[in-house]
Amino acid sequence: MTELVKKIIIAIDGYSSCGKSSYAKLIANELGYLYIDSGAMYRAVSLFALQNKMIENGVIDEISLIRNLPKIEISFQTDGNGTYTLLNDENVEKKIRNLDVSSVVSEISKIYEVRERLVQMQRTMGKNKGIVMDGRDIGTIVFPEAEMKIFMTADPKIRAKRRFDELRSKGIPASLLEIESNIEHRDNKDTNREISPLRKAEDALVLDNSRMTFDDQMLWFTRKLFEKGLLKKN
Ligand code: DC
Repeated sequence: MTELVKKIIIAIDGYSSCGKSSYAKLIANELGYLYIDSGAMYRAVSLFALQNKMIENGVIDEISLIRNLPKIEISFQTDGNGTYTLLNDENVEKKIRNLDVSSVVSEISKIYEVRERLVQMQRTMGKNKGIVMDGRDIGTIVFPEAEMKIFMTADPKIRAKRRFDELRSKGIPASLLEIESNIEHRDNKDTNREISPLRKAEDALVLDNSRMTFDDQMLWFTRKLFEKGLLKKN
């Protein structure tokens, strides 16, 4: 395990399908830190809205959702098989990855009050440091003071090919062209939304992993820790 000179916050932001969560998990594992998937929190709120009939024909009853926000508790639990998202103590890890959730989550994540509530929860989760959090606004809004900020990017064509291979390996039929246009659409939505759009924080380190393996990315990470004087010398 890599030891640091002090407990820090690591903020990882970037485009969809860049491998942010796999990378964040590897880093958390290497440092013995907690991993928080902030996208899962927006997905959990979306699931709550769907389950409570606050979305009809794609139209969100924002007033009702905002009124019920205090009833939403989100936490994470880790066991030998991985980390699970809990919504009001129910394990919803599988449900939040479903298409019905995926198709509403970007609209849900545009709602100011939803972001305000989730950012508050995320800051509470990070108050003792020792965490790796990934998302779109972690280095800019949630933890602007994070000691290490990484902004991940990769060639859209390479991201699409990775996603295509992943789906194919799971036996899910996929079209490369459709995936490419979906990635382009999501990049546009993430960068052009009004509230907390995806932006590189000024002091974030850019990691373009288009042609990097996980090992290359971990070496890059260790080198950056060293350059920042965060690596404990044994
Ligand atoms: O990372 P993901 O695809 O699971 O994220 C789901 C959605 O939540 C996606 O539309 C972007 C949004 N999101 C956000 O607005 N802010 C974050 N910090 C994380 C995710």
